[in-house]
Amino acid sequence: MSKKNLSFEMPIYVLAPLAGYTDLPFRSVVKKFGADLTVSEMLSSNALVHGSSKTLSMIEKSPNEDPYSVQIAGSEVDVIKRAVEILNEQEGIDVIDLNCGCPVPKIVGHGSGSSLLLNLPLMGSIIRTMKETSNKEFTSVKIRLGFEKKNHIDIAKVVEDSGADFLAVHGRTRAGKFKSAVDYDAIKEIKAAVKIPVIANGDIDSYEKAKWVLEHTGADGVMIGRGAVGAPWIFHQLKSGTNEIDRNVKHAIILEHFDKMIEFYGSYGVVMFRKHVHTYSKGYSGASALRQSVNRVAEPQECRAMIDDFFRNSETVC
Ligand SMILES: Cc1cc2nc3c(=O)[nH]c(=O)nc-3n(C[C@H](O)[C@H](O)[C@H](O)COP(=O)(O)O)c2cc1C
Repeated sequence: MSKKNLSFEMPIYVLAPLAGYTDLPFRSVVKKFGADLTVSEMLSSNALVHGSSKTLSMIEKSPNEDPYSVQIAGSEVDVIKRAVEILNEQEGIDVIDLNCGCPVPKIVGHGSGSSLLLNLPLMGSIIRTMKETSNKEFTSVKIRLGFEKKNHIDIAKVVEDSGADFLAVHGRTRAGKFKSAVDYDAIKEIKAAVKIPVIANGDIDSYEKAKWVLEHTGADGVMIGRGAVGAPWIFHQLKSGTNEIDRNVKHAIILEHFDKMIEFYGSYGVVMFRKHVHTYSKGYSGASALRQSVNRVAEPQECRAMIDDFFRNSETVC
């Protein structure tokens, strides 16, 4: 990839990594609506190094994902180095991102994710190793504002000094999980403290909010996670300032998403798509009956026909 594919001259709109959601089928439909950068689900560096076939399949990208970022998690410098070497052998990856934000006990217990915010020298040596080992254009880091308390400026400076090319900031501490108020002032302070590009993240779900966050923080882009679940078209809305999406476009993209799930996962895609049916059908009359029906079928064509019929005929109620 040339650097032209990922430039920070204009604010960029990034799909956040969401384990269990932002798989290849979902990213490929989001990309159609103009996301500038898509990121894989978090991959365990240990699982990569042990050659887990599930983890290796999670690296695969859709042909329209250009540029493409792969996120890894880990806490051991040697394992991270080996994981990056494995990613070096894969074509089509432009960014390797380090997860320094995951609050989940299983990840934190292994010293990975947001745990790294408690050990900045280790976080720094992991980033330096990634940068030195990677043959990709960019090394990036996704952080929170701190573990229990905010120490966001120290964290951001270590990220920058260790050689990262840009960072994404989820504006909460680990203690704030996914619910405390997002501290956009802290993101603004990080932007003022470092020279590398800063992407703002947390609770951005509309054109107005994205515009306000970009203006308030001075960030070089915004990253959207939960706002895209059930609404992959949000990137079109964010970039064009419209809230309208034609119901036929929605209908077609939901079916396309379903088809890509079946292509990628085989008939198990039916089960994997259930959670998306739940989010796509929110606000439609008869949504709960659809969800119950879909939870009972396992055969792709039968499930597809139910979804097709529902979105062709159902009215929105809110
Ligand atoms: C279900 C779920 C899975 C997530 N998985 C990841 C992940 O794999 N890697 C990561 O860095 N952050 C992950 N996050 C955090 C999001 O990337 C994002 O920082 C957070 O949800 C705040 O942004 P939002 O309000 O736009 O969703 C996850 C969040 C949720 C809700």
